[in-house]
Parts: sequence; structure tokens; C-alpha cells
Amino acid sequence: MSTIAVVPGSFDPVTLGHLDVIVRAAGLFDELHVLVVHNPGKSALIPVEQRVDFIREAVDAAGVDEVSPLENVLVTSWSEGLLVDYCTRVGAKVLVKGIRSQVDVAYETPMAIMNRSLAGVETIFLLPDPAHALVSSSLVRQVASLGGDVDPYVPRAVADYLRASRDDQAGASSASKNETR
Ligand code: PNS
Repeated sequence: MSTIAVVPGSFDPVTLGHLDVIVRAAGLFDELHVLVVHNPGKSALIPVEQRVDFIREAVDAAGVDEVSPLENVLVTSWSEGLLVDYCTRVGAKVLVKGIRSQVDVAYETPMAIMNRSLAGVETIFLLPDPAHALVSSSLVRQVASLGGDVDPYVPRAVADYLRASRDDQAGASSASKNETR
């Protein structure tokens, strides 16, 4: 029997910390599904399909340098209900999440208990590589929106996208100021 695990998340955007968890989890399971899921508690910056593409590109790039290419990783999205509904559909019994701090433990624990209660899906937590222990999507979004350099924390394509979004917003805001003058 092959073991399928799912790494779910908003990935808005995917960070090098997420990729570290994905690469390590891919080595632990026969099949790993990276699932971009809408988080009802968050409003998103990047469209879901774009987030999926960023992860696919990064996974493909990671496969080149890893000892074992990430051929067992599938990247997709889910918007048809509960996360555990996806797990049931594909026969996944395990969720994998990265936890960086006690704050993450407090955030993840109720979801892990709920997912197990709903469908018997277990959650396994991986501790971060120290190099990525402080990186989060929300911090990356904030730093990028204020003109900071996010190159060390996200794949190159994501950093370029965030820079372009900021430039677009800056352009739109200066155009609207000029119009009101
Ligand atoms: O990266 P995030 O935002 O912390 O990921 C949270 C996510 C998307 C995994 C979580 O919000 C989720 O599972 N959403 C799907 C809806 C669902 O199944 N809710 C019940 C889970 S307890």
C-alpha cells in the first residue's frame, strides 16, 4: 500500500520554509500532494492558480539539486469543501505541517484535532530548518509591500512578482493622486 500525505496551506506566497518542509516530507512518503487551500480566515494577495504555479516551479527546481528528484510531488488546489474531503478523495491519511513556534502549535492543534475527528486524518508536524525558522508568508507580504528585499525568503519568481505588484500599486496610487490635483 502506498502512503499518500498532503501538505496543505494558503502559500500566499510559498516561502523557502514551506519548500524545506515539502522537500523533507517528500522523502518520508510515497506520494506527497501540496495543496493550495483557501483559508476562510484570510484575504489573499495572490490568485490561487498563480500560487500553484509558483510551487510547481520551485518543486521542479528543487528536484534538480536534490539527491532524489521530487517526482512523487503533485501540486494542486482545492476549493470544494473541507481539507479532509480532499484527503478522503485521494486516499491520504496524513497531513504534514511545519511548525516554527508555540504560536504555530496553538494555531495548528485545534485544526489537527478537528481533522482527525472529522475523517481520521492524522497530522504530523515537522520542525523548521533553523535557516527558515522565522520566515512566514505574512511577514514576506508585509516586507515586500513596504519595499523591503524578500529575495532571501522566497523563490526568485515570487520575489519578482511581489516587486512588480508593489510597483503597480505605487504607480496606481501616484496616478490617482495626480488625477485629484
Ligand atoms: O497556510 P494556512 O493559511 O495556515 O493554511 C490553513 C488551511 C488552509 C490549511 C486551513 O485554513 C484549512 O484547512 N482550510 C480548509 C477548510 C477546512 O477544512 N477547515 C477545517 C479545518 S479544521
